[in-house]
Amino acid sequence: MLKGKHIIIGITGGIAAYKAAVLVRLLVREGAEVQVLMTRAAKEFITPLTMATLSKRPILVENFNPENGAWNSHIDLGCWADAMVIAPATANTLAKMACGIGDSLLLTTYLSARCPIAVAPAMDLDMMAHQATQQNLDTLKQRGVMIIEAESGELASGLSGKGRMAEPEVIVESIRQLLGRKQTLAGRRAMVTAGATMEAIDPVRYITNHSTGKMGYAIAAELAARGAEVRLVSGRTQLPCPKGVERVDVVSAEDMFRACCAEWDGADIGVMCAAVADYTPEQVSPTKIKKSDDDMCIRLRRTPDIAAELGRRKEGRVLVGFALETDNEQVNAQQKLERKNLDFVVLNSLRDKGACFGGDTNKVCLIDRQGEQSFPLESKARVAERIVDKIEEILKTK
Ligand code: CTP
Repeated sequence: MLKGKHIIIGITGGIAAYKAAVLVRLLVREGAEVQVLMTRAAKEFITPLTMATLSKRPILVENFNPENGAWNSHIDLGCWADAMVIAPATANTLAKMACGIGDSLLLTTYLSARCPIAVAPAMDLDMMAHQATQQNLDTLKQRGVMIIEAESGELASGLSGKGRMAEPEVIVESIRQLLGRKQTLAGRRAMVTAGATMEAIDPVRYITNHSTGKMGYAIAAELAARGAEVRLVSGRTQLPCPKGVERVDVVSAEDMFRACCAEWDGADIGVMCAAVADYTPEQVSPTKIKKSDDDMCIRLRRTPDIAAELGRRKEGRVLVGFALETDNEQVNAQQKLERKNLDFVVLNSLRDKGACFGGDTNKVCLIDRQGEQSFPLESKARVAERIVDKIEEILKTK
Protein backbone atom coordinates (compact mmCIF):
# COMPACT_ATOMS: atom_id res chain seq x y z
CA MET A 1 0.00 0.00 0.00
CA LEU A 2 2.90 2.37 0.67
CA LYS A 3 4.68 1.65 -2.60
CA GLY A 4 4.95 4.79 -4.71
CA LYS A 5 3.04 6.91 -2.18
CA HIS A 6 4.28 10.45 -1.63
CA ILE A 7 4.75 11.02 2.07
CA ILE A 8 5.89 14.17 3.83
CA ILE A 9 7.56 13.57 7.18
CA GLY A 10 7.70 16.79 9.21
CA ILE A 11 10.25 16.75 12.02
CA THR A 12 10.09 19.28 14.83
CA GLY A 13 12.54 20.01 17.64
CA GLY A 14 12.24 17.30 20.24
CA ILE A 15 14.51 14.54 21.44
CA ALA A 16 12.27 11.97 19.75
CA ALA A 17 13.53 13.35 16.40
CA TYR A 18 16.09 10.54 16.42
CA LYS A 19 13.23 8.05 15.96
CA ALA A 20 12.21 9.86 12.75
CA ALA A 21 15.34 8.36 11.16
CA VAL A 22 13.99 4.86 11.70
CA LEU A 23 10.54 5.95 10.53
CA VAL A 24 11.91 7.30 7.23
CA ARG A 25 13.99 4.17 6.74
CA LEU A 26 10.93 1.94 7.20
CA LEU A 27 8.87 4.00 4.76
CA VAL A 28 11.60 4.03 2.10
CA ARG A 29 12.04 0.28 2.53
CA GLU A 30 8.32 -0.15 1.73
CA GLY A 31 8.76 1.80 -1.49
CA ALA A 32 7.33 5.14 -0.39
CA GLU A 33 8.76 8.41 -1.70
CA VAL A 34 9.57 10.48 1.35
CA GLN A 35 10.17 14.22 1.55
CA VAL A 36 11.48 15.34 4.92
CA LEU A 37 10.66 18.83 6.18
CA MET A 38 12.44 19.98 9.33
CA THR A 39 12.02 22.97 11.57
CA ARG A 40 15.16 24.89 12.51
CA ALA A 41 14.98 23.42 16.01
CA ALA A 42 14.76 19.89 14.62
CA LYS A 43 18.21 20.32 13.06
CA GLU A 44 19.64 20.62 16.58
CA PHE A 45 18.39 17.10 17.36
CA ILE A 46 19.17 15.20 14.18
CA THR A 47 21.30 16.24 11.24
CA PRO A 48 19.92 17.09 7.81
CA LEU A 49 22.61 14.83 6.35
CA THR A 50 21.21 11.80 8.22
CA MET A 51 17.67 12.53 7.08
CA ALA A 52 18.63 13.40 3.49
CA THR A 53 20.65 10.17 3.20
CA LEU A 54 17.86 8.00 4.57
CA SER A 55 15.10 9.68 2.54
CA LYS A 56 17.28 9.87 -0.61
CA ARG A 57 16.29 13.51 -1.12
CA PRO A 58 17.55 16.82 0.21
CA ILE A 59 15.56 17.81 3.26
CA LEU A 60 13.80 21.18 3.32
CA VAL A 61 13.77 23.71 6.16
CA GLU A 62 13.32 27.23 4.78
CA ASN A 63 10.80 28.69 2.37
CA PHE A 64 13.68 29.57 0.06
CA ASN A 65 17.37 28.84 -0.28
CA PRO A 66 19.22 31.95 1.03
CA GLU A 67 22.14 31.25 -1.31
CA ASN A 68 20.41 31.10 -4.67
CA GLY A 69 16.85 32.22 -3.89
CA ALA A 70 15.33 28.88 -5.04
CA TRP A 71 11.76 28.74 -3.74
CA ASN A 72 10.52 25.68 -1.83
CA SER A 73 6.85 25.91 -2.65
CA HIS A 74 4.68 24.78 0.27
CA ILE A 75 1.73 24.71 -2.13
CA ASP A 76 3.46 22.30 -4.53
CA LEU A 77 4.54 20.16 -1.58
CA GLY A 78 0.97 20.16 -0.22
CA CYS A 79 -0.39 19.01 -3.58
CA TRP A 80 2.37 16.41 -4.08
CA ALA A 81 1.76 14.58 -0.81
CA ASP A 82 -0.60 11.61 -0.38
CA ALA A 83 -0.09 11.88 3.39
CA MET A 84 1.72 14.20 5.77
CA VAL A 85 2.93 13.07 9.16
CA ILE A 86 4.55 15.30 11.76
CA ALA A 87 6.71 13.12 13.97
CA PRO A 88 7.72 14.16 16.50
CA ALA A 89 5.19 16.96 16.95
CA THR A 90 6.15 19.29 19.81
CA ALA A 91 3.65 21.19 21.95
CA ASN A 92 4.80 24.35 20.17
CA THR A 93 4.12 23.02 16.66
CA LEU A 94 0.76 21.54 17.71
CA ALA A 95 -0.25 24.93 19.11
CA LYS A 96 0.76 26.69 15.90
CA MET A 97 -1.11 24.13 13.80
CA ALA A 98 -4.23 24.63 15.91
CA CYS A 99 -3.97 28.42 15.51
CA GLY A 100 -3.12 28.36 11.81
CA ILE A 101 0.29 30.01 12.26
CA GLY A 102 2.59 29.56 9.27
CA ASP A 103 6.05 30.67 10.41
CA SER A 104 7.99 27.76 8.90
CA LEU A 105 7.93 25.74 5.70
CA LEU A 106 6.59 22.79 7.70
CA LEU A 107 3.63 24.84 8.96
CA THR A 108 2.77 26.53 5.66
CA THR A 109 2.88 23.12 4.00
CA TYR A 110 0.53 21.77 6.68
CA LEU A 111 -1.87 24.67 6.01
CA SER A 112 -1.81 24.08 2.26
CA ALA A 113 -1.92 20.28 2.28
CA ARG A 114 -4.98 18.61 0.78
CA CYS A 115 -3.98 15.12 1.90
CA PRO A 116 -4.78 13.32 5.16
CA ILE A 117 -2.55 14.45 8.02
CA ALA A 118 -1.31 12.80 11.21
CA VAL A 119 0.72 14.03 14.15
CA ALA A 120 2.75 11.96 16.60
CA PRO A 121 3.07 14.14 19.70
CA ALA A 122 6.19 13.81 21.85
CA MET A 123 6.91 15.88 24.94
CA ASP A 124 7.29 15.81 28.68
CA LEU A 125 4.31 14.45 30.61
CA ASP A 126 3.22 17.78 32.12
CA MET A 127 3.37 19.55 28.77
CA MET A 128 1.29 16.72 27.32
CA ALA A 129 -1.27 16.86 30.12
CA HIS A 130 -1.50 20.68 29.99
CA GLN A 131 -4.97 21.90 29.12
CA ALA A 132 -3.59 24.03 26.28
CA THR A 133 -1.94 21.02 24.62
CA GLN A 134 -4.99 18.85 25.12
CA GLN A 135 -7.27 21.53 23.66
CA ASN A 136 -4.96 21.96 20.68
CA LEU A 137 -4.99 18.21 20.06
CA ASP A 138 -8.79 18.20 20.23
CA THR A 139 -9.00 21.12 17.80
CA LEU A 140 -6.77 19.28 15.35
CA LYS A 141 -8.78 16.05 15.75
CA GLN A 142 -11.96 17.94 15.04
CA ARG A 143 -10.43 19.21 11.83
CA GLY A 144 -9.73 15.63 10.77
CA VAL A 145 -6.06 15.35 11.79
CA MET A 146 -5.20 11.86 13.02
CA ILE A 147 -3.49 11.85 16.41
CA ILE A 148 -0.99 9.02 16.82
CA GLU A 149 -1.18 8.77 20.59
CA ALA A 150 1.98 9.16 22.62
CA GLU A 151 2.92 6.23 24.83
CA SER A 152 3.57 6.09 28.55
CA GLY A 153 7.01 5.24 29.87
CA GLU A 154 10.32 6.71 30.81
CA LEU A 155 10.89 10.15 29.29
CA ALA A 156 14.13 11.90 28.33
CA SER A 157 13.67 14.23 31.32
CA GLY A 158 13.97 11.26 33.67
CA LEU A 159 10.31 11.54 34.61
CA SER A 160 7.90 8.79 33.79
CA GLY A 161 4.47 9.25 32.19
CA LYS A 162 2.62 9.80 28.91
CA GLY A 163 4.66 11.68 26.34
CA ARG A 164 6.93 9.23 24.52
CA MET A 165 6.45 9.40 20.77
CA ALA A 166 4.81 6.28 19.33
CA GLU A 167 7.32 3.79 17.96
CA PRO A 168 8.18 4.13 14.24
CA GLU A 169 6.43 0.82 13.46
CA VAL A 170 3.22 2.13 15.04
CA ILE A 171 3.50 5.34 13.01
CA VAL A 172 3.93 3.35 9.77
CA GLU A 173 0.77 1.41 10.66
CA SER A 174 -1.07 4.69 11.24
CA ILE A 175 0.13 5.98 7.86
CA ARG A 176 -1.34 2.86 6.28
CA GLN A 177 -4.63 3.61 8.04
CA LEU A 178 -4.43 7.24 7.03
CA LEU A 179 -4.09 6.27 3.38
CA GLY A 180 -6.69 3.51 3.74
CA ARG A 181 -9.17 5.68 5.62
CA LYS A 182 -9.76 7.63 2.45
CA GLN A 183 -11.42 4.73 0.75
CA THR A 184 -14.00 3.26 3.11
CA LEU A 185 -16.71 5.86 2.37
CA ALA A 186 -15.53 7.04 -1.04
CA GLY A 187 -18.48 7.59 -3.36
CA ARG A 188 -20.92 8.02 -0.43
CA ARG A 189 -22.69 11.26 0.33
CA ALA A 190 -23.41 12.25 3.90
CA MET A 191 -25.48 15.01 5.39
CA VAL A 192 -24.78 16.10 8.98
CA THR A 193 -26.70 18.67 10.99
CA ALA A 194 -24.90 20.47 13.80
CA GLY A 195 -25.06 23.47 16.09
CA ALA A 196 -28.02 25.31 17.52
CA THR A 197 -30.87 26.93 15.66
CA MET A 198 -31.82 30.55 16.42
CA GLU A 199 -35.47 31.50 16.46
CA ALA A 200 -36.00 35.23 16.09
CA ILE A 201 -38.35 37.13 18.40
CA ASP A 202 -37.56 40.53 16.91
CA PRO A 203 -34.49 41.96 15.10
CA VAL A 204 -32.58 41.96 18.43
CA ARG A 205 -33.66 38.88 20.41
CA TYR A 206 -33.83 35.21 19.69
CA ILE A 207 -34.39 31.83 21.32
CA THR A 208 -31.54 29.32 21.16
CA ASN A 209 -29.82 26.62 23.25
CA HIS A 210 -26.38 25.67 24.59
CA SER A 211 -25.24 23.47 21.71
CA THR A 212 -21.76 24.40 20.40
CA GLY A 213 -21.76 22.03 17.41
CA LYS A 214 -18.56 20.23 18.45
CA MET A 215 -20.00 16.70 18.22
CA GLY A 216 -21.57 17.25 14.80
CA TYR A 217 -18.43 18.90 13.45
CA ALA A 218 -16.32 15.96 14.69
CA ILE A 219 -18.65 13.55 12.88
CA ALA A 220 -18.50 15.58 9.66
CA ALA A 221 -14.67 15.59 9.89
CA GLU A 222 -14.58 11.83 10.44
CA LEU A 223 -16.91 11.11 7.51
CA ALA A 224 -14.81 13.35 5.25
CA ALA A 225 -11.57 11.72 6.46
CA ARG A 226 -12.98 8.39 5.28
CA GLY A 227 -13.70 9.77 1.82
CA ALA A 228 -17.41 10.65 2.03
CA GLU A 229 -18.70 13.78 0.34
CA VAL A 230 -20.06 15.70 3.32
CA ARG A 231 -22.61 18.52 3.56
CA LEU A 232 -22.73 20.03 7.00
CA VAL A 233 -26.00 21.86 7.59
CA SER A 234 -24.92 24.09 10.42
CA GLY A 235 -26.75 26.33 12.81
CA ARG A 236 -25.04 28.76 15.18
CA THR A 237 -21.48 27.74 16.14
CA GLN A 238 -18.03 29.29 16.50
CA LEU A 239 -16.27 26.36 14.87
CA PRO A 240 -14.30 26.41 11.62
CA CYS A 241 -15.56 24.16 8.83
CA PRO A 242 -13.62 20.84 8.86
CA LYS A 243 -11.28 20.07 5.99
CA GLY A 244 -13.01 18.59 2.94
CA VAL A 245 -16.51 19.39 4.21
CA GLU A 246 -19.01 21.67 2.49
CA ARG A 247 -20.96 23.78 4.96
CA VAL A 248 -24.49 25.07 4.43
CA ASP A 249 -25.20 27.80 6.99
CA VAL A 250 -28.71 28.12 8.35
CA VAL A 251 -30.30 30.14 11.13
CA SER A 252 -33.72 28.83 12.17
CA ALA A 253 -35.30 25.37 12.45
CA GLU A 254 -37.38 26.19 9.39
CA ASP A 255 -34.21 27.06 7.39
CA MET A 256 -32.56 23.86 8.56
CA PHE A 257 -35.63 21.84 7.56
CA ARG A 258 -35.55 23.29 4.03
CA ALA A 259 -31.79 22.80 3.61
CA CYS A 260 -31.96 19.20 4.89
CA CYS A 261 -34.89 18.25 2.65
CA ALA A 262 -32.95 19.57 -0.35
CA GLU A 263 -29.75 17.72 0.62
CA TRP A 264 -31.43 14.42 1.59
CA ASP A 265 -32.32 13.36 -1.96
CA GLY A 266 -28.69 12.81 -2.98
CA ALA A 267 -27.46 11.49 0.37
CA ASP A 268 -26.68 7.94 1.55
CA ILE A 269 -26.15 8.90 5.19
CA GLY A 270 -27.87 11.39 7.50
CA VAL A 271 -26.60 12.27 10.97
CA MET A 272 -28.92 14.55 12.89
CA CYS A 273 -26.74 16.12 15.52
CA ALA A 274 -28.16 19.66 15.60
CA ALA A 275 -30.02 20.96 18.60
CA VAL A 276 -33.12 22.10 16.76
CA ALA A 277 -35.64 24.33 18.48
CA ASP A 278 -38.93 22.45 18.90
CA TYR A 279 -40.83 25.76 19.09
CA THR A 280 -40.47 29.13 17.42
CA PRO A 281 -42.25 32.46 18.05
CA GLU A 282 -45.54 32.50 16.21
CA GLN A 283 -44.86 36.06 15.14
CA VAL A 284 -41.56 37.80 14.57
CA SER A 285 -41.79 41.50 15.20
CA PRO A 286 -40.20 43.46 12.34
CA THR A 287 -39.18 46.17 14.82
CA LYS A 288 -37.63 45.99 18.27
CA ILE A 289 -40.25 45.15 20.89
CA LYS A 290 -40.40 47.91 23.50
CA LYS A 291 -40.90 47.01 27.11
CA SER A 292 -44.00 48.02 29.03
CA ASP A 293 -44.88 47.74 32.70
CA ASP A 294 -46.84 44.53 32.11
CA ASP A 295 -45.44 41.03 31.86
CA MET A 296 -45.34 39.70 28.36
CA CYS A 297 -46.15 36.40 26.73
CA ILE A 298 -44.62 35.04 23.52
CA ARG A 299 -46.77 32.48 21.78
CA LEU A 300 -44.74 29.65 20.28
CA ARG A 301 -45.65 27.25 17.52
CA ARG A 302 -44.13 23.86 16.70
CA THR A 303 -41.28 23.62 14.23
CA PRO A 304 -41.07 20.75 11.75
CA ASP A 305 -39.25 17.66 13.05
CA ILE A 306 -36.45 17.33 10.53
CA ALA A 307 -35.23 13.88 11.58
CA ALA A 308 -38.79 12.49 11.49
CA GLU A 309 -39.40 13.94 8.03
CA LEU A 310 -36.16 12.43 6.66
CA GLY A 311 -37.08 9.14 8.41
CA ARG A 312 -40.38 9.10 6.49
CA ARG A 313 -38.40 9.37 3.24
CA LYS A 314 -35.53 7.07 4.24
CA GLU A 315 -35.68 4.49 1.46
CA GLY A 316 -32.68 2.32 2.29
CA ARG A 317 -30.45 5.08 3.59
CA VAL A 318 -28.79 5.26 6.99
CA LEU A 319 -30.29 7.81 9.38
CA VAL A 320 -28.82 8.50 12.80
CA GLY A 321 -30.35 10.67 15.51
CA PHE A 322 -29.24 12.00 18.86
CA ALA A 323 -31.07 11.98 22.14
CA LEU A 324 -29.90 14.30 24.86
CA GLU A 325 -31.79 13.40 27.99
CA THR A 326 -31.83 14.33 31.64
CA ASP A 327 -33.93 11.40 32.92
CA ASN A 328 -35.56 8.15 31.77
CA GLU A 329 -32.80 8.09 29.16
CA GLN A 330 -33.10 4.62 27.60
CA VAL A 331 -36.89 4.73 27.22
CA ASN A 332 -36.83 8.19 25.65
CA ALA A 333 -34.09 7.17 23.23
CA GLN A 334 -35.98 4.01 22.21
CA GLN A 335 -39.06 6.11 21.51
CA LYS A 336 -37.05 8.47 19.31
CA LEU A 337 -35.61 5.51 17.40
CA GLU A 338 -39.13 4.37 16.46
CA ARG A 339 -40.85 7.75 16.13
CA LYS A 340 -38.22 9.11 13.75
CA ASN A 341 -37.53 5.80 11.93
CA LEU A 342 -33.82 5.99 12.75
CA ASP A 343 -31.21 3.23 12.33
CA PHE A 344 -29.70 4.07 15.68
CA VAL A 345 -29.79 6.74 18.35
CA VAL A 346 -26.75 8.24 20.03
CA LEU A 347 -27.85 8.75 23.59
CA ASN A 348 -26.07 11.09 25.95
CA SER A 349 -27.26 12.04 29.35
CA LEU A 350 -26.73 15.39 31.00
CA ARG A 351 -26.36 13.41 34.23
CA ASP A 352 -22.95 12.09 33.05
CA LYS A 353 -19.99 14.19 34.10
CA GLY A 354 -17.95 15.28 31.07
CA ALA A 355 -20.88 14.90 28.67
CA CYS A 356 -22.10 18.48 29.00
CA PHE A 357 -22.47 21.21 26.36
CA GLY A 358 -19.34 22.70 24.90
CA GLY A 359 -16.91 20.14 26.34
CA ASP A 360 -14.41 18.16 24.32
CA THR A 361 -15.55 14.82 25.68
CA ASN A 362 -18.73 12.81 25.50
CA LYS A 363 -20.11 9.61 26.97
CA VAL A 364 -22.54 7.89 24.68
CA CYS A 365 -24.65 4.81 24.32
CA LEU A 366 -25.57 3.66 20.81
CA ILE A 367 -29.06 2.19 20.71
CA ASP A 368 -30.56 0.24 17.82
CA ARG A 369 -33.29 -2.39 17.47
CA GLN A 370 -30.87 -5.18 18.42
CA GLY A 371 -29.71 -3.64 21.68
CA GLU A 372 -27.34 -1.05 23.05
CA GLN A 373 -23.61 -0.45 23.40
CA SER A 374 -22.24 1.89 26.08
CA PHE A 375 -18.88 3.57 25.85
CA PRO A 376 -16.75 5.29 28.48
CA LEU A 377 -16.08 9.03 28.58
CA GLU A 378 -14.02 9.74 25.44
CA SER A 379 -12.97 12.64 23.24
CA LYS A 380 -15.65 13.75 20.79
CA ALA A 381 -13.30 12.76 17.95
CA ARG A 382 -13.18 9.18 19.29
CA VAL A 383 -16.96 9.15 19.73
CA ALA A 384 -17.26 10.32 16.11
CA GLU A 385 -15.11 7.36 15.01
CA ARG A 386 -17.41 4.97 16.86
CA ILE A 387 -20.52 6.49 15.28
CA VAL A 388 -19.03 6.36 11.79
CA ASP A 389 -17.83 2.76 12.38
CA LYS A 390 -21.44 1.82 13.13
CA ILE A 391 -22.72 3.68 10.08
CA GLU A 392 -20.26 1.71 7.94
CA GLU A 393 -21.46 -1.56 9.49
CA ILE A 394 -25.09 -0.72 8.66
CA LEU A 395 -24.24 0.39 5.12
CA LYS A 396 -22.80 -3.07 4.48
CA THR A 397 -26.16 -4.66 5.31
CA LYS A 398 -28.27 -2.33 3.12
N1 CTP B 1 -34.47 16.88 15.66
C1 CTP B 1 -34.78 17.35 14.40
N2 CTP B 1 -35.70 18.32 14.23
C2 CTP B 1 -36.35 18.85 15.29
C3 CTP B 1 -36.05 18.38 16.58
C4 CTP B 1 -35.12 17.40 16.73
O1 CTP B 1 -34.18 16.88 13.44
N3 CTP B 1 -37.25 19.81 15.09
C5 CTP B 1 -33.50 15.79 15.82
C6 CTP B 1 -32.26 16.14 16.59
O2 CTP B 1 -31.23 16.60 15.74
C7 CTP B 1 -31.91 14.80 17.24
C8 CTP B 1 -33.23 14.16 17.48
O3 CTP B 1 -34.13 14.77 16.55
O4 CTP B 1 -31.20 13.96 16.36
C9 CTP B 1 -33.75 14.27 18.89
O5 CTP B 1 -34.09 15.57 19.21
P1 CTP B 1 -34.80 15.98 20.59
O6 CTP B 1 -35.16 17.40 20.52
O7 CTP B 1 -33.94 15.54 21.71
O8 CTP B 1 -36.05 15.06 20.57
P2 CTP B 1 -37.54 15.38 20.41
O9 CTP B 1 -38.05 14.38 19.44
O10 CTP B 1 -37.75 16.80 20.05
O11 CTP B 1 -38.14 15.04 21.82
P3 CTP B 1 -38.10 15.85 23.22
O12 CTP B 1 -37.93 17.28 22.92
O13 CTP B 1 -39.40 15.50 23.81
O14 CTP B 1 -36.94 15.25 23.98
